[in-house]
Amino acid sequence: MRVLVSGGAGYIGSHTVLSLIEAGHDVVVVDDFSNSKPAVIGRLESLAGQHIPVHAFDLADHDKTERLFAAESIDAVVHFAGLKAVGESVAKPLEYYANNIGSTISLVRAMRRHDVRRLVFSSSATVYGEAAPVPYVETYEPLVASSPYGRTKVMNEQVLADVAAAGELHVALLRYFNPVGAHASGTIGEDPQGIPNNLMPFIAQVAVGRRERLSVFGDDYPTADGTCLRDYIHVEDLAAGHVAALEHLGAMAEPVRAFNLGSGHGTSVLELLRAFERAIGRELPYEVVGRRPGDLPAFWADPSRAADELGWRTTRSVDDMCADTWRWQSQNPQGFPDA
Ligand code: NAD
Ligand code: UD1
Repeated sequence: MRVLVSGGAGYIGSHTVLSLIEAGHDVVVVDDFSNSKPAVIGRLESLAGQHIPVHAFDLADHDKTERLFAAESIDAVVHFAGLKAVGESVAKPLEYYANNIGSTISLVRAMRRHDVRRLVFSSSATVYGEAAPVPYVETYEPLVASSPYGRTKVMNEQVLADVAAAGELHVALLRYFNPVGAHASGTIGEDPQGIPNNLMPFIAQVAVGRRERLSVFGDDYPTADGTCLRDYIHVEDLAAGHVAALEHLGAMAEPVRAFNLGSGHGTSVLELLRAFERAIGRELPYEVVGRRPGDLPAFWADPSRAADELGWRTTRSVDDMCADTWRWQSQNPQGFPDA
């Protein structure tokens, strides 16, 4: 298939571009580089050993999106493009709704016009809200998120489900748990701009000397060591999940289907810190501070639907995630270069 990857220069998109090429697909990228660097593309081309066509524009622009579909012969789309910072979405909700919903509508319109019917969408475990029992299962309802960012995921899922039900699309909604890690080469990885919001990139920046110490947000949760449990998933396993979902779309009995992409296991903040320390062979400074508002004590995936229907399961351990994150961070202490 010739696959359009929106947000293909970003963290998960870049790894998925490689997995798609390795699986024998042609890839076209659209990215406005609002949260990534053009240098990613050169690294991808070196790893893939081929040229990757890139269109640099905001996907919410209907005319440009239409021109892209007219110029390229696209068979399917993997849609990552969007803004993803929870805190920023509270401060700038309109930007989040305009970008995250606007880009999906623009994309799906162009897909309809050009008779492209296969779509894989980046959703999130955040759609399960605060009341869902763990492990999270795809059949749980109602989906409710607690931030504007999370609500854009719930809304996008609804928009895509409605369009699919009208017979216009086959859609896989992939609900990611906590993506971490980096490509085994150490040449691409997560490169957050500013102070990292998420745990793994923060630990990695402490390890490389860019931050003084990790703040552990609360150790009085009802878990074994008092810190929150999350289901960390290696970004290369996640990328493989996209390939599996894409290749399954044509065989799907229903026009829209949600899949959890997680390992099925919870790891605490302190367990992840200890695993990272093992990977680098030294201890890292941390202090326990107050809870972060909105954090849930513990959640992880029931990944059995993806195993049964997509034949996909995670293969990489928390130790692999830490070792690969460190290879990327230590080889690229400041992330990707600007030019
Ligand atoms: P990222 O920010 O690294 O990648 C997103 C890419 O999309 C960036 O390269 C950015 O420049 C681009 N982009 C943003 N808006 C665009 C637009 N309107 N037009 C064109 N390009 C645009 O993020 P990521 O971590 O790779 O996440 C990818 C997707 O997965 C997002 O939709 C995110 O919400 C979702 N997701 C991520 C996580 C996570 O922890 N990283 C968890 C659950 C879901
Ligand atoms: C966060 C987002 C969620 C998003 C997910 C993507 C919030 C409230 N939620 O979730 O919407 O889908 O990222 O992966 O932002 N922690 C620390 N110190 C830090 C950073 C994090 O102790 O410096 C703790 C957190 O309290 C949490 C755990 O580490 O318990 C994981 O945090 P994080 O990586 O931000 O992921 P989520 O909280 O799952």
